[in-house]
This record gives sequence, structure tokens and C-alpha cells, in this order.
Amino acid sequence: MNLRTIENLDVRGKYVLLRDDFNVQIVDGKITDAFRIEQSMPTINALRAGGARIAICAHLGRPRGERNMEYSLSPVAEYMKIPLVADCLDKNFMKNMHDGDVVLLENVRFYAGEEKNDAEFSRQLADGFDIFVNDAFAVSHRAHASTVGVAKILPSYAGLLLASEIENLTNVMENPARPLLAIVGGSKVSTKIGVLRALAKLADTLIIGGALGTTFNYAMGGRVGNSLFEADQKQNALDILEYARQNNCRVLLPLDKGVAKEFTATAPRTNKDFTEIADDDVIIDAGIATTERDVSEIRGASTVIWNGTVGMAEWQPTWSYGSFAIARAIAEQTRAGKLVSIVGGGDTVAALQACGVKDDITYVSTGGGAFLEFIEGRDLPGISVLRG
Ligand code: 3PG
Repeated sequence: MNLRTIENLDVRGKYVLLRDDFNVQIVDGKITDAFRIEQSMPTINALRAGGARIAICAHLGRPRGERNMEYSLSPVAEYMKIPLVADCLDKNFMKNMHDGDVVLLENVRFYAGEEKNDAEFSRQLADGFDIFVNDAFAVSHRAHASTVGVAKILPSYAGLLLASEIENLTNVMENPARPLLAIVGGSKVSTKIGVLRALAKLADTLIIGGALGTTFNYAMGGRVGNSLFEADQKQNALDILEYARQNNCRVLLPLDKGVAKEFTATAPRTNKDFTEIADDDVIIDAGIATTERDVSEIRGASTVIWNGTVGMAEWQPTWSYGSFAIARAIAEQTRAGKLVSIVGGGDTVAALQACGVKDDITYVSTGGGAFLEFIEGRDLPGISVLRG
């Protein structure tokens, strides 16, 4: 089924409800990473150029249906230099709008009806608009009022970012240049079982790192000291290894680790093999041998899909070693035209940005959970509602 997009859509003078994902990190009232906002600009600009009257609907954090100003979108409105409508259900702003005008509606999650995909709330949100455009790939795995509810009420279309995410991710999954290497890090096996299985089927090689890798090492009988890992995921980890074996996917687990005696950014770092890890050691990063192996695997791959850092990449420079080496190797090979690279997930994209190589990557997804579910092959409700 085809996706309805905004291409060739006549929007002049129409009131457009545009769903964007502006769930960005804000520290002391300032946006620290505007990637999602920047990626949303082509659709906003196209709708403006077409003469639409645009109200952007977005969420920030999880205020759980309460008007908690800690989660106000006002820093986003300030960053974008557009007016903020203090209540997403207040339609008075429409009276003063001209073609090409844009406003931002306050956090839609201030209403409990949003996450419940409540029919009456969806109706109130859609009221007064002519068209709904969803450009919020990063929240399209949620069946909420502003992703699914309104799409069932108004004529609905995909924005340019949403269409581009779908195209790029579908291409790599359906037609990857091989060998395909997948690198999955992060902290929890429990949140990544689906994607690990999908990649074990799709990829030629799967590198598992980060705290996730520690859980796999533990499942294989390795020493993990006082590290972050999930003992209760042992069987799931073993099942994934067996599934990968059945699908001829080579799985590479951490060989050694960067460890410390305490889990802090400034703790002194030692490199240890798994056999040497003491009971009071805390694993915080990939080790030297592991990193060398990972870089060499990247150099031999034609496609890389990367999600999840392999250590505390935000604790620079001591603990970003493994993740930054991966980021740089992927960027170098992509720049040289030898690699198609796809990267997704907030921490992973932040690592690319921190070492200044984000622009070298073939495709950087704005999705976190949505990226994982898409790769997993799941039907994302915010997307399927736009097909037909
Ligand atoms: C994200 O940041 O991944 C999306 O905005 C979804 O946010 P949520 O997990 O709070 O629904």
C-alpha cells in the first residue's frame, strides 16, 4: 500500500495540523541537540512555501497527562522563533493566521487523552483543521491521538522526513550491500530482543556491545564483576545466539573491557580481559582488543547498521573510547565511498555529533524506539494509518 505524502498537495490557505517530534534534550531551558528540529524543517518550509497555515503539534518528555511546565515546549518555540499557543486545544490563534504562518502548540501530552488515543480528545485536537500531516517518525510507534486518532478524522499525509525515514530504512533492510554488519549496544537486552533477533536474521555479522554485551558475556559464563547487566536475561541472550547460529549470522561479543572501581566519569580506567575482571570491577566501556576488532569489522563491511553505544560515550574522553572509535571508523569508510551506514538512537547520534562525524553518515535516523521497531519489521501505527 502506498503512503500518501504531501508532494503535489495543494495546501494554500488550508489549516494544517503538523505532527513533529520535538522531544529533544533541554538543559537549563536551552536545547542541547536540535537534530530532530532541523530534520523537520524541510516539511515546514515546503508547507509554508505552499501557503499553508500551520500549527505544529508535539510532545516533550512524559508529563503523564498533567500540565507540568517542566515539560513546556517554550524553549523549542524560542529556538524556532515561532509563537507558542499555550493550550493545544485552544483554536483562537486560527483567526489571526495568514498563509505561510506557523505556530507551535504546547505539549500535547499535557492532556491524558493524547496517550490514550481518546476519540473525543482526537476530535477536539483535529477541530478546525483541513489537513493532518505526520512528520514525526520518532513517535510513529505510539498509537496516540496526535499520531493515529487525528489521522482517522482528517485527510492525512506523510511529511518529507517521515517519507525519507521509511525509504532509507526500507532500502537497507530489503536491499543491503553485503557484507552487512550490525552493531548493537546500549544497556538493556530486554528492550532490544526484537531488534537483535531481526538483525540476527538480516545481518552477516552482529557485534553486541555495551551493557548489552556484558549480559551476553555473563550468559556465556564470563566474569562481569560489579557491572550493569541483566542476570534475568540470560536465557533470552542464549536464545538470540542460537537464533543467529540458525541464520548463519556471526555474533561477536566483547573480548575485553575498560573497567574502573567506581561508576563515575572521572574514575581511573584499566583495560581488562574477561578472565581478569574482579568482583569489585565495573565495566564502563569496550576494551582495546574489542575496539580494534570492531574497527576491522567495519573496514570489511559494505553496510553497517549501528544502534547503541558500547560504553558511557558521554563521559569523555576516558569512557567514549570504544564508541568514538566505531563512529570514526564508520564515518571514514562512508566518506571513502566504501560503506553504506545507517545510524539510529539518541545516544548513538549524540556520539556521532560529539566526535563531529554525523554529516559523514549515509543516513542518520531521528528515531529511537521507532527506529528499533521499524528495523524489527513491526507495523508502526502512525505510519500504517497513512497508507491507502
Ligand atoms: C522518542 O524520543 O523516542 C519519542 O519522542 C517517543 O517518546 P516516548 O518514548 O516518550 O513515547
